[in-house]
Amino acid sequence: MNIVSKVPETSHGISAWPDTNDVMDRLNALLRQPPRGIRKDAMPKVLEYFDQKCQTSKALAERTAKVIPGGVQHNLAFNHPFPLAATRCDGAYMWDADGNRYIDFLQAGGPTLLGSNYLPVREKALQLINECGPVTGLFHEYEVKLAELIRHYMPANEMFRMLGSGTEAVMGAVRLARAFTGKKWIIKVGGAYHGWSDQMVYGMRVPGTGRREAIGIPKGTTAYTQEVFPNELGTLRRKLWMNKVRGGTAAIIVEPLGPESGTRPALRDYNKQLRALCDEFDALLIFDEVVTGFRVGMGGAQGYFGVRPDLTVFGKCLTGGYLMAGGIGGSKAVMMLLAGGIGTSSKRAFVGGTLSANPLSCVAGYHAISEMARTNAPVVAGRAGDRLCKGLNEIINRLGLPYVTYNFGSIVHLQTSAVLLMSMRNPIKLMKEASKRKHVMEEMGAAYLAHGVLTLAGSRIYTSLADTDEVIDNALNRFESVFKLV
Ligand SMILES: Cc1ncc(COP(=O)(O)O)c(C=O)c1O
Repeated sequence: MNIVSKVPETSHGISAWPDTNDVMDRLNALLRQPPRGIRKDAMPKVLEYFDQKCQTSKALAERTAKVIPGGVQHNLAFNHPFPLAATRCDGAYMWDADGNRYIDFLQAGGPTLLGSNYLPVREKALQLINECGPVTGLFHEYEVKLAELIRHYMPANEMFRMLGSGTEAVMGAVRLARAFTGKKWIIKVGGAYHGWSDQMVYGMRVPGTGRREAIGIPKGTTAYTQEVFPNELGTLRRKLWMNKVRGGTAAIIVEPLGPESGTRPALRDYNKQLRALCDEFDALLIFDEVVTGFRVGMGGAQGYFGVRPDLTVFGKCLTGGYLMAGGIGGSKAVMMLLAGGIGTSSKRAFVGGTLSANPLSCVAGYHAISEMARTNAPVVAGRAGDRLCKGLNEIINRLGLPYVTYNFGSIVHLQTSAVLLMSMRNPIKLMKEASKRKHVMEEMGAAYLAHGVLTLAGSRIYTSLADTDEVIDNALNRFESVFKLV
């Protein structure tokens, strides 16, 4: 196997773990204050940008609203005041249908760690399409090359099964955990997002909300899903004890940085403690590395924390932005329960998918991951995230704003309204203020766009290999112009 290993596999994209308690204190202070967004007198000018410069997008948005529910197919595409249509992406930049250029910190929601539309991977994908088309139904050599590469960088994943999306992979991992342990409870952390499969639409976004978003999902389907508040190990232990006498816990599933990619940051040793608890209670530990896999280092979050999960869920960076990105990795003992084919095992957890593990996804994944290693992309993008975060902090402090920014390498959080920090611990505040605070965040996102910067919902930023110091410094100037409108 010819694996590029120029970069030491121990090099991480996260240069320093944020002081979780300090971040939480600052976020809670932000939450106690009335929301502070773009000034009323400045907002019309922001909106004028969209009216005058984004007419093609606007016209498309009007058409779209008539045929696509809510006018967007994906939450990522939602931007205030209307979704922008993208026509071209290259590295650090995205152009909309009216030809406006933006510094692209959305990066497709995380997959394009190498920068958008990265040429060396595109060439390999095109070559494969020319040779056999994107799909054949038969086995392709790149399936094994990709699985070997994943095992090389994240050795806990002795075996790998490719699927269609992060959602599918979570669904499969949960099934696999139950099949392996013979137990039924699944514990997740409140606020975490693990895709939209029936059992995981539980305690989503806001801790303590349980089935609030489980519209169209029968109660029985989420009956064995539980949530615990972030970083609270005491309650988790109690749940594990209780479950022991009522069928046992099959798995704890976490986003290792904390819910929503660390929007509620995990304590530095939280994952280690989870590992110990899982061992004590004979439950599997599932790391959902859909966002973190390769983005925070070639070894993923498991490499960074030095924690070996039993199962890992992959998505996003797995294929460098190509379709379709999802997969489950884990120890041979567990993974063999997924053995494919007819009659290959008496006991197996069924997963499938016509387009799963298609040659296009596998070739793109293999070359994207190889390029990430060759270029040291997790570290380069991580340093860009550090530079951006440091610069944002400096501007925020200089202008005396209450905003909070912190980063895990290339994942930068910029919280201006703290709406993402609300929880059922204070339901009255949640009910009274959530929509107002959300609107402040959306208006901030609109103002960033009007100043040429595309973020994820006005609160999260993904940096990439393409973000040179020049790009970051340019972005900082633009952020400063927006903050002066507050
Ligand atoms: C942590 C996490 N898990 C799972 C998913 C679901 O992945 P997908 O959108 O590919 O279904 C996401 C998507 O954003 C995610 O962030």
